[in-house]
Amino acid sequence: MNPPATNIQTSERSAPPGERVLKIRGGHALHGEVPISGAKNAALKALAATLLTADEVVLNNVPMLADVVSTTELLKAFGAEVEIDRRRERVIVRAGEITRTAAPRELFNATRASVVVAGPILARCGEISFSMPGGDDIGKRPIDMHLRGFQRMGAEVVVDSRGIVAKAEKLKGTRIYMDYPSHTGTETILMAATLASGKTVIVNASAEPEVVWLGNLLNRMGARITGLGSPFITIEGVERLHGASDIVPPDRLEAGTFAIAAAITRGEVTLTGVVESQMLPVTEKLLEMGVDVWLREDRMLIRPGTALDAVDIQTLPFPGFPTDVQAPFVALLTQAEGLSRVHERVYEDRLQYTRDLVRMGADIDVARFGPNDEYLATAAEVRGPTPLHGERVTALDIRSAVGLALAGLVADGETELLDVYHVDRGYARFVEKLTAIGADVEDTFLPPGSEGAS
Ligand code: EPU
Repeated sequence: MNPPATNIQTSERSAPPGERVLKIRGGHALHGEVPISGAKNAALKALAATLLTADEVVLNNVPMLADVVSTTELLKAFGAEVEIDRRRERVIVRAGEITRTAAPRELFNATRASVVVAGPILARCGEISFSMPGGDDIGKRPIDMHLRGFQRMGAEVVVDSRGIVAKAEKLKGTRIYMDYPSHTGTETILMAATLASGKTVIVNASAEPEVVWLGNLLNRMGARITGLGSPFITIEGVERLHGASDIVPPDRLEAGTFAIAAAITRGEVTLTGVVESQMLPVTEKLLEMGVDVWLREDRMLIRPGTALDAVDIQTLPFPGFPTDVQAPFVALLTQAEGLSRVHERVYEDRLQYTRDLVRMGADIDVARFGPNDEYLATAAEVRGPTPLHGERVTALDIRSAVGLALAGLVADGETELLDVYHVDRGYARFVEKLTAIGADVEDTFLPPGSEGAS
């Protein structure tokens, strides 16, 4: 994926001298409090949902991220009026009229989440055309289940080299079985089905907390959805949806990342604004390793325990261990005593970043499974603890970016993280939050001409 045109976290400097870099000088235990921001993967879908109604939708606690800004640009391209109040973290959208049904390629391809606007536009306008959405370097990421859902609801779907066109004068409710509980697949179909005629049942639906929250937002907009959080979601179509005001829930993935940052540095950190039940897949593993974790109401305290033991993890849909916390967790496992096995089961190729961890001194072997070059899954063995040293490393996606940054927090010397725009896409005020709890992290630029040297 290319860097986004809008980078809202880069400080304003004219003619930067070289490539942007995060310089992380390791060796500081983190102490203090971190406020958790609104969830990116909830906010992006809520923005898409605003296209289902001509009324005003007000979203609060929206993290001011590059992916959020590019999604609001996409909404504007469809004719919506968008107001962004960065200080209050509020976005107001009025999609009084949808003025086009062809998604502009560059904006649509900026994020993977843009695929979910296909549901609302198709349901409201009877047509949507778009090119394959963008995303990260973590595997193939097809959208066959989204498209099959549209077809099951009566849409004609044409896929060719120019992109995808889906048409249906009126979507019809039906039963849709998903081969896998796709997160955005469920959200796309959920939104499309709100305005379909009759009843839609999604079987093997995603139970990710962001899907549940989106369904509840849609219900507040007048949709009739039951079964959220279970593998069977039922949607009774309605004629129209109306406006609503809502608060984006806290980002469990950001919370997991900061919990791991505390654990890897043997620090003592309190996270504020977390939802306990959503944190369990990560906190159970931290407890198993010997880390002290206390959860009370919306606060979570992480303290070093008496041990940091190796554990096995396998990534799975919620409530399994989140794939989006896998990279930060692997950084932690490099510091744990013994052999840890990591099985990445959501994306075929989401362990590539471990090459950089190995360059930093980690002892990690990766195995890929699948016929020929078609990986079906990857797994890693991590042996620890290993001392790490600073290196120049490159982010491949949002989560590998912070995984490598966390490794830098315990590395000897300076780690230079390149392709920093991935951090901006998923973590609000990442450097500011880390610095506030004692990390030595600098968001700066390399001297001109030194980009290739390592
Ligand atoms: N898949 C298919 N066909 C489909 C859809 C998915 O084969 O039609 C496969 C994917 O290739 C992947 C697996 O199913 O191997 C899981 O994909 P899923 O559809 O569940 O993921 P997603 O909806 O594309 C969302 C998040 C991801 C997060 C996953 C899992 C958004 C915008 N993205 O992706 O977040 O990892 O769910 O929870 O919500 C991130 O935030 O860094 C990120 C990658």
